[in-house]
Amino acid sequence: MTRTPWWRDAVVYEIYVRGFADSSGDGEGDLRGIRSRLGYLRDLGVDALWLTPFYPSPLADGGYDVADYRDVDPRFGTLGDFDALVADAHAHGLRLIVDIVPNHTSDRHRWFRKAVAAPPGSPARDRYIFRPGRPGEGPGEEDPPNDWPSAFGGPAWTRLPDGEWYLHLYATEQPDLNWRNPDVRHEFEDILRFWLDRGVDGFRIDVAAGLVKEDCYRDLAGRGVRTANGPVYSRPEVHEIYRGWRRILDEYDERMAIGEVWTDDPDDLALYLRPDELHQVFQFDLQLAPWSAAAFRDVVEAAVTAVAPTGAAPTWVLSSHDSIRHITRYEQPEGVPGIELARAKAALLLLLALPGSAYLYQGEELGLPEVVDLPDEARQDPIFKRSDGGQLGRDGCRVPLPWSGKSEPFGFSLAGVRPWLPMPAEWASLTVEAQEGDPSSTLTFYRAALALRRRLVPGLPDDLEWLDSPAAALFLRRGPLTCALNCGENPVRLPPGRPLLTSIPPYGDLLPGNAAAWLASP
Ligand code: NOJ
Repeated sequence: MTRTPWWRDAVVYEIYVRGFADSSGDGEGDLRGIRSRLGYLRDLGVDALWLTPFYPSPLADGGYDVADYRDVDPRFGTLGDFDALVADAHAHGLRLIVDIVPNHTSDRHRWFRKAVAAPPGSPARDRYIFRPGRPGEGPGEEDPPNDWPSAFGGPAWTRLPDGEWYLHLYATEQPDLNWRNPDVRHEFEDILRFWLDRGVDGFRIDVAAGLVKEDCYRDLAGRGVRTANGPVYSRPEVHEIYRGWRRILDEYDERMAIGEVWTDDPDDLALYLRPDELHQVFQFDLQLAPWSAAAFRDVVEAAVTAVAPTGAAPTWVLSSHDSIRHITRYEQPEGVPGIELARAKAALLLLLALPGSAYLYQGEELGLPEVVDLPDEARQDPIFKRSDGGQLGRDGCRVPLPWSGKSEPFGFSLAGVRPWLPMPAEWASLTVEAQEGDPSSTLTFYRAALALRRRLVPGLPDDLEWLDSPAAALFLRRGPLTCALNCGENPVRLPPGRPLLTSIPPYGDLLPGNAAAWLASP
């Protein structure tokens, strides 16, 4: 009998390294901080950790601007700390996934420095995407080579003093690599081996769909940027890269890769999941869906259908370091107090009942909301800066975790230290310390759901069956587990089965609005 690979139904906990736990007292999280909290993560009941980038970086985009792919930024620790973290995580029964950022480097990466110092047309420039501009409106003016936008606002091109423009799909400080250049391929294959040899269990591939661009660099001219097989994302050439990566991963035991693929076309995801490519791709649709049973059902159905032909399992996510925390997304404009927490807990039961794997984002187990009122001076996200404050950006979901105590830094850092983003005073009631041992806390609920899921998973089939339900609810069954989610305001009758766990206490056989239940199928 073949064993189910560990990632197929894993619950992975995303650690935003800078905001998780600070052991050094510089106000930023670090690897030793993570190590000191492994007991917490084991007790939470997750299977694996995904660490956001901790490599040397000027942090123009929170570390997704990597200056050296084979080291640890001194503010986050050392390679020795990393090795110790891998060993300790494994000793705690936790797998470790690291982020790899192959679409772009930092502008401080040695390759880009060389490219800037070298003349147009030189081999050093060929590792990136340099192009001449186009004549602009006025005399002597020049426009970028094409109309591609940066995902963070403004054009995707920046001009060097010598007149050439370079491409950056993200911030100016993140020049895109030229994946048609063999140096780039070899370099990343070597980087993969570097971390595999250090014992990582997998990679989360940043901007996985973007590596190869259409090489004529024509204008988008109104075409969607996320279209499959468009000029920017999900071009056919990208798959060849992942086949090569897969061969490397397969040389090691039980290593995996998950791609960050944003696409307008769910069928596009299946291409990445072919048996000789990636093991997982994020399915972001739950994260994008409104609080509606019909919307959730459609999304689940579409996602399951899209990956089914590949034999891979779906991969679900409700929140990440790039999105507004789902608890806040579930607030009602008119504001019924507490409804967002009720919904977030119910959503967890849906998430964890679905076939496949689930990625949680640090702090959701505490019910942390998005911090919407950060002062402008504190904001770090390039989206905020590039939009002149027009878009708040993603800092609100990156505020450090509150561990203990009554005031900032809430045990995130040493007493008296100011964390890199300010923490709300109201978080005193949301700390791990405040929630631990409280049977009604969000943390206790997460632990119960994860523990129960772990017990149930070995007996759950891969597929799911929809049961008849009132319109505001959805009932799904996976063999011995039935999950009922009521997105409406009024109670609905529970489907048959013995209740195992509910997000709020049911009344008799009625499931209240904005609640979910797991039942042992009859
Ligand atoms: C996706 C990452 O999750 C995000 O944080 C980053 O800004 C972009 N990719 C660019 O690397």
